[in-house]
Amino acid sequence: MNKPKVFVTRPVPDRGLDVIKNFCDADVWTDELPPSREALLERVRGVEGILSLLTDRIDGEVMDAAGPQLKVVSNQAVGFDNIDVAAATQRGIPVGNTPDVLTDATADFAFALMMAAGRRIVEGERYVRAGKWKTWSPSLLLGVDFKGATLGLVGFGRIGKAMARRAAGFDMRVIYYDPLETKPPADVKATHVDMETLLEDSDFISLHTPLTADTRRLIDAAALAKMKPTAVLVNTSRGPVVDLDALYEALKVKRIFAAALDVTEPEPLPMDHPLLTLENALIVPHIASASKTTRDKMSWMAAQNLIAGLKGEHLPNCVNPQVYK
Ligand code: GLV
Repeated sequence: MNKPKVFVTRPVPDRGLDVIKNFCDADVWTDELPPSREALLERVRGVEGILSLLTDRIDGEVMDAAGPQLKVVSNQAVGFDNIDVAAATQRGIPVGNTPDVLTDATADFAFALMMAAGRRIVEGERYVRAGKWKTWSPSLLLGVDFKGATLGLVGFGRIGKAMARRAAGFDMRVIYYDPLETKPPADVKATHVDMETLLEDSDFISLHTPLTADTRRLIDAAALAKMKPTAVLVNTSRGPVVDLDALYEALKVKRIFAAALDVTEPEPLPMDHPLLTLENALIVPHIASASKTTRDKMSWMAAQNLIAGLKGEHLPNCVNPQVYK
């Protein structure tokens, strides 16, 4: 029996790739960089399934380039703003994502970023390596405290709640803004507030929202102007949620204390971006879910979605279940 043809846009961990290779005739893009638009349009031609990453824009043009036999798009990520879900739904194509398995790794990382920026850990490391460490000093690299501080979470889905649970261990007060989740579950101590209150009252603000038309540039100059001058901003959601020009201006004049970004717009951030000149900007390359075990699980889950779609079964994690109606 012929195996279904699929295009896999980069070598995902073996846990998922082995499953895919067993079941499918898999064309795997092996370059370090993602396929160009032309290469993507070319390589999807005739496939029944696409396994994509957040670096691949999968829109109606790509789906049509694949052809009418395309049965499934499986994204190895929890976020799916790189996929035109409406275009997929219109064509009856289910789209899969990989929620849950990355919740703890991502919350761990967001918390680590919050502490690193608040306590100036990366700046301190740069200081040592630059040979500037001459003596202990009472005022060297002073940061901000966590105990009793208010953590404001923008987005209170799985990862936002996992942040709230971690914050309880640090004796922090947690407030959150989420238009869809106004009542916290019984086991999570957090108070729902409006966005304005969150911006004004938080000592730390951590973003855990998907990228939508409503959240694009949610943190702009006006939002930054409302934050405390001691505030630390953390973004592990999607780059375009923060206006980086406005953030640069705010950090430069210490309008806020610091920011830690796992995601930026664009990605990668160009080396001449002014944010990279600031000591109070901590920037890492979109690695919040990057633990070995988590990425293994994500690849396996993406493989399960892909194979279910190829078999015409419901995807275990489908972002557009309306295709089944
Ligand atoms: C990573 O950013 C993801 O959406 O999985």
